[in-house]
Amino acid sequence: MELLKVTNLKKYFKDIKAVDDISFCINKGEILGLLGPNGAGKSTTISMLSTLMKPDGGLIEYKGDNIVKKPSSIQPNLGYVPQEIALYKTLSGRENLEFWARAYGLKGKKLKKRIDEVSEIIGITKRLKNKVENYSGGMQRRLNIGAALLHEPELIIMDEPTVGIDPQSRKHILDTVLELNKKGMTVIYTSHYMEEVEYLCNNICIMDNGKIIAKGSKEELIKSIQSEKIINIKVDNVTDELLNVIKTIEEVSDITCDNNAIAVTVSNSKTSFNKIIDVLSKTDVSINSVDINEPNLETVFLNLTGKALRD
Ligand SMILES: Nc1ncnc2c1ncn2[C@@H]1O[C@H](COP(=O)(O)OP(=O)(O)OP(=O)(O)O)[C@@H](O)[C@H]1O
Ligand SMILES: [Mg+2]
Repeated sequence: MELLKVTNLKKYFKDIKAVDDISFCINKGEILGLLGPNGAGKSTTISMLSTLMKPDGGLIEYKGDNIVKKPSSIQPNLGYVPQEIALYKTLSGRENLEFWARAYGLKGKKLKKRIDEVSEIIGITKRLKNKVENYSGGMQRRLNIGAALLHEPELIIMDEPTVGIDPQSRKHILDTVLELNKKGMTVIYTSHYMEEVEYLCNNICIMDNGKIIAKGSKEELIKSIQSEKIINIKVDNVTDELLNVIKTIEEVSDITCDNNAIAVTVSNSKTSFNKIIDVLSKTDVSINSVDINEPNLETVFLNLTGKALRD
């Protein structure tokens, strides 16, 4: 079922086209990744989805309702985790959760029950009594996520929830997202870490300069660039003869050599890999290692924009 549909969405700040005519949709139960470098327009996009900002053009529909005209269609069903941590640092974890729970209209037993459940999910039960200013960055991030879960939303939108935290908290957050999704929650996950998006998301939109420059599953995106692969071979002693034989293999389009490391660019790695091994085994060079550089989302991004995802 289509939960959220975005059509020709636009947001301009004077001459900056922060969001420049983008369209995508998300089905119930999916994890959609919005991947893009700094300034791509990710936060502006999700601010509009969360009804915090009005679009300059286009349409956002939640279950068929225009959310600008009818914010109540999405608001009670949405958990929004902002990029900047929004917590009261001098209050305890529990007091922060209570504040948000009340804002969502929870009270009494239900409020207490949800705070217990959410603290368990985000793994801060033992630290609930402590002031947030004494929490690590990772714990603050987790509490920030917890605040968005209290009212059991159908859809959670997370804006770079793992920036600047320790690897353990990061792993905890990623696994929490998967766990919530397994229980039926739909997720929009924003990041400029391609490995996070690769790990979590069924569907990915790659954004750059306010535009969606590619969308699809990870496999589709990688396939779409039909990237060549590079086979790296390390040998004891490179000879011109060896390089020449490799060059004669049909699928090989380029070959470079640095000391005893050979990098062979090939179009179809399966057949060419076998052929290269075949050639090597007929010579008397001894091979130290052979590996294939598989293209990933970083390669896709590089291929589409000519620049790296991160500086
Ligand atoms: N309130 C604003 N006023 C003016 N320009 C803005 C405003 N908000 C965002 N921008 C500009 O819009 C563009 C998109 O910004 P946005 O914050 O949406 O990007 P982002 O993908 O979330 O980046 P980051 O990874 O750094 O969070 C940037 O050029 C930014 O400077
Ligand atoms: Mg942002």
